[in-house]
Amino acid sequence: MSNLICYFSATGNSLQTAKDIAGKLPDTELISMTKKHISIAGYERVGFVSPCYGEGLPNIVRRFIEDLSFDCNQNIYYFTG
Ligand SMILES: Cc1cc2nc3c(=O)[nH]c(=O)nc-3n(C[C@H](O)[C@H](O)[C@H](O)COP(=O)(O)O)c2cc1C
Repeated sequence: MSNLICYFSATGNSLQTAKDIAGKLPDTELISMTKKHISIAGYERVGFVSPCYGEGLPNIVRRFIEDLSFDCNQNIYYFTG
């Protein structure tokens, strides 16, 4: 089973963090949260790595997560960073 890390990064800090985490996990894909219509079905672990904006999530990250389908993915381990 493979892993997916979804990242958003404007100046590179979160991208570096996502790469660091990916380096510790086997078989891990990185995708930018600027992409649309992503499926998380079939992954073992799915991570979200993002900067903090205004003491919350950047709008682009919030929209990306809201757009995901979490149906039929009961066994995925989710994490944030
Ligand atoms: C519009 C904006 C809002 C931010 N708001 C916060 C904040 O509320 N708290 C915080 O600790 N850092 C805040 N930051 C700093 C970023 O979270 C920080 O620089 C982060 O490392 C940037 O990640 P990136 O290099 O992946 O883009 C803000 C940065 C920007 C550009």
